[in-house]
Amino acid sequence: MSQFKTQQEAEAAGVYVQKIRSFVKREGRLTKGQAKALEEFWPTMGLNHSDGILDLAQVFGRQAPLVLEIGFGMGTSLVEMAAAEPDKNFIGIEVHRPGVGTCMADAHEKGVTNLRVYEHDAVEVFNDCLAEQTIDRLQLFFPDPWHKKRHHKRRIVQPEFVEKLRSKLKIGGVFHMATDWENYAEHMLEVMSQAPGFKNQSETADYVPRPDSRPLTKFEKRGHRLGHGVWDLMFERIS
Ligand SMILES: C[S@@+](CC[C@H](N)C(=O)[O-])C[C@H]1O[C@@H](n2cnc3c(N)ncnc32)[C@H](O)[C@@H]1O
Repeated sequence: MSQFKTQQEAEAAGVYVQKIRSFVKREGRLTKGQAKALEEFWPTMGLNHSDGILDLAQVFGRQAPLVLEIGFGMGTSLVEMAAAEPDKNFIGIEVHRPGVGTCMADAHEKGVTNLRVYEHDAVEVFNDCLAEQTIDRLQLFFPDPWHKKRHHKRRIVQPEFVEKLRSKLKIGGVFHMATDWENYAEHMLEVMSQAPGFKNQSETADYVPRPDSRPLTKFEKRGHRLGHGVWDLMFERIS
């Protein structure tokens, strides 16, 4: 891609470029419950990448602060947060189809109506579906750490993507990350500290205590018992 500055430029020139993705799509089997949830709840909760730019007021039927979560897994903490903050609109993005099914089933069961989901690559959703300055809080919890050094380029926190995220956050909006992999925490801190337009909310210029807004996951509770660390980072968009 050397003569092109971006993937889009290369594609526009008709050059095929292998995309580096932050995930490997494994078409795990759907349980009956997940398949039923996808069929039943997609019309009300599902958002399609192919529909392009989102009209938030129309999608939620109201104006409210927007919380967006990238890579919600099974959606456990996302549904919990949406239930706890009914005055906010929530959008989750996840590529793993079974997780999307579980999340919608869970939201339905808990009577959550302020949540919509994409089953799509978050990088493409950010490129094609979100208007500038629309997000109040952006969440990235336990993203795939890509342990091996030769895979670090697959980590979703990269300067180019972070610049894209900044443009979609409102001024004063916050990007909240959490990871249980120290080397990824250090990588996040390095990328975010160098990114223009962000201010670290940590008083010590590194990590913040887990805010009450982020529920403690089962996995994390187990990690605490085993003495594993978790690092939270919060950066505010200031320009
Ligand atoms: C390690 S899991 C963590 C899931 C969840 N946040 C949690 O804390 O339990 C990372 C998730 O990110 C999803 N993911 C990775 N890259 C993604 C992308 N570009 N767009 C959407 N989801 C992505 C994966 O499918 C996976 O479910």
